[in-house]
Amino acid sequence: MKSDISQARLPAHVAVIMDGNGRWAKRRLMNRIKGHEKGSQTVRTIVSTCREIQIPFLTLYAFSTENWARPKSEVSALMHLLKKFLVSEQDEMMEKGICLKVLGQLERLPEDVRNQAEETMAATCHNHQMTLNLALSYGSRREITDAVQMVAKKIQAGELAVADISEQVVADHLYTAGMPDPDLVIRTSGEFRLSNFLLWQSAYAEIFVTHTLWPDFTKEEFIEILTNYQKRDRRFGKVECSMPSDGSPQ
Ligand code: IPE
Ligand code: IPE
Ligand code: MG
Repeated sequence: MKSDISQARLPAHVAVIMDGNGRWAKRRLMNRIKGHEKGSQTVRTIVSTCREIQIPFLTLYAFSTENWARPKSEVSALMHLLKKFLVSEQDEMMEKGICLKVLGQLERLPEDVRNQAEETMAATCHNHQMTLNLALSYGSRREITDAVQMVAKKIQAGELAVADISEQVVADHLYTAGMPDPDLVIRTSGEFRLSNFLLWQSAYAEIFVTHTLWPDFTKEEFIEILTNYQKRDRRFGKVECSMPSDGSPQ
């Protein structure tokens, strides 16, 4: 499998909207929570695959700012699963040199989950092989709004001039400061929407939607998507490289 992928055109950053856990459970007449449990196994598989093929940044959308509006029992089950994941995966992250970061409103998480997230982030912060971003209580609009507030405060304090607000300055105030933008955004479960995920950062990401529900998503399908990504022509608004610079057809 690994041999199908060209090491030369590997994405530096893959972001995944892990969707479809509830439908996976519903189809089996199970409680939605069972779908989340099964989905957390897929998380393990995809993290270790990324590490294996040396993708430096992986961002997983695990819980959105909008997901707080779900039934209390589902939210608390998800929080419990998150904590369990952080505890059970910490040794593996250390072994594999994975650094964990949480993108989102850490302060909104229940205290025990927040403490565990902080502990795992501190324990893994010197690992350099790969960064795993967990988007938790994450919302892109909130992230951008916070960045605007931070920049405004710097202007008010006289630390920054209005004319100095560049795209780079905005990017430097997002949760993803210092990281490359996602090259590839994958969404499982067949929905063609971004659901408030990395709106700024995904400006030029390649998007791939699969109908597979997240608990059924496999290493094989992930590799297939990466292979498809490598065949895409990323033009970034320009003309194809083979085209003469005056734009006339060859
Ligand atoms: C994704 O699965 C997990 C989270 C949003 C936390 P869903 O729970 O959204 O599953 P569906 O979309 O209802 O199938
Ligand atoms: C997006 O899935 C959020 C996560 C995967 C964490 P949702 O299921 O919450 O999104 P919508 O409601 O389909 O847009
Ligand atoms: Mg969903």
